[in-house]
Amino acid sequence: MPNIAIVGAQWGDEGKGKVIDIFAAKSDYIVRYQGGNNAGHTVVIGKDEFILHLIPSGILHKNKICVIGNGVVIDPRALLEEIKVLGSKGIYVKGRLFISDSAHVIFPYHWKLDGLKEEAKKKKKIGTTKKGIGPCYADKVARSGIRIIDLLDKETFREKLKANLEEKNNILTKIYNADVFSFDELYKEYFGYAENIRQYVCDTSILLNDAIKCRKRILFEGAQGALLDVDHGTYPFVTSSNATAGGASTGTGVGPNKIDKVVGVVKAYTTRVGEGPFPTEFPDDLMEKIRKKGREFGATTGRPRRCGWFDKVIVEHSVRVNGIDEIVVTKLDVLDDLDSLKICVAYRYNGKLYKNFPSDIKVLDNCQPVYEEFPGWKKDTTAITSYAGLPKNAKNYLKVIQKLLNTKIVLISVGSERRQTFSKGA
Ligand code: GDP
Ligand code: IMO
Ligand code: MG
Repeated sequence: MPNIAIVGAQWGDEGKGKVIDIFAAKSDYIVRYQGGNNAGHTVVIGKDEFILHLIPSGILHKNKICVIGNGVVIDPRALLEEIKVLGSKGIYVKGRLFISDSAHVIFPYHWKLDGLKEEAKKKKKIGTTKKGIGPCYADKVARSGIRIIDLLDKETFREKLKANLEEKNNILTKIYNADVFSFDELYKEYFGYAENIRQYVCDTSILLNDAIKCRKRILFEGAQGALLDVDHGTYPFVTSSNATAGGASTGTGVGPNKIDKVVGVVKAYTTRVGEGPFPTEFPDDLMEKIRKKGREFGATTGRPRRCGWFDKVIVEHSVRVNGIDEIVVTKLDVLDDLDSLKICVAYRYNGKLYKNFPSDIKVLDNCQPVYEEFPGWKKDTTAITSYAGLPKNAKNYLKVIQKLLNTKIVLISVGSERRQTFSKGA
């Protein structure tokens, strides 16, 4: 199997965790390349449910190597907590978790600023996870961030933390009238984390490229989704990293020519957490029904997810900006009870028809979706184990999606467990 990038093709929570867990069985290395603990990737194995935030979902397979690449932002507290929780469930990371020395570190002032900036935005807030992701990436791009390698060196860390706190404390008091952070307390606490993390740190670009030379198979684990990508998403209602496949190269130090295939994970309908435009959002009654059936509550924040009809316009955009070769459709079973289903094929705004994803947020906010309607199948699909066994109308729904996107569906998921997955076949 070649090196594969698995990406979310909508607004996140498409079921990437489940799909990565399945692909991980045939991979040697599983690598996160962007985002941070804003992600929540769920893997269900029998009666156990694991939610991974920072550590690649491949960790649940014994003997697999997991890597946190340079493009990820790391909250050391969250990382150590995740290692602890995994350990309490008999999953040990020692010797098979590697962390890039160039990844940037999230500090408490990033969480604080994340929250304060959101509050200040009032009605225009993004609805972030408040994990400090945006402020940490902002420091990275402003060239004032603190990397893992800096954290590990007492003197460098002291110097950089001093400079950062001087700036942040000024912002906190003068702009937000908020409390300041103490240098001594933060320094002590975070140098303590450094001592714990040191054992996992290396140049992961060398690690991965050496592995590729030895013909090992690398799986790149995308977090969030294309519509949350800072360049290609519904800006400014996005996260602060490149969730699309290009991020797999910059976020790991592996050349783009080493990524052989891009697989997009697509939910059979659409969801989004947080604020921002959502043209196909359900009316209240359907919202409640699908949210309940699909258990659509955030894996990281517990917030109810907004739900809506499948939107071809956004997924087609996602296929293009990611270069998606193949699609996995998840959560088909959640649609089992519906009499009929809609798919949005275009938007209408101010008398104009938009067949392609519009960059103008005004259009996305105010457009009318143009729907095609299809009959439902009204049968429980959760015990079905082959494409052939699906009801005719469910097959038809998938065929329509495949045709609209002009991209092959390779796998279908009808439940959160590993066994509730089957290939589409030719
Ligand atoms: P991710 O962020 O893309 O990894 O997705 P999340 O883990 O945040 O959310 C997906 C949720 O759907 C999780 O609770 C999964 O266990 C669940 N899930 C995944 N695939 C299916 C499926 O085919 N059917 C149903 N009913 N649930 C699924
Ligand atoms: P996974 O990997 C869904 C959303 C937040 C908010 C926006 C910005 O589980 O699919 P941030 O904290 O990143 O600055 O928030 O992005 N968001 C996600 N939504 N799934 C995720 O990750 C998300 N990570 C961030 O809700 O709208
Ligand atoms: Mg999630």
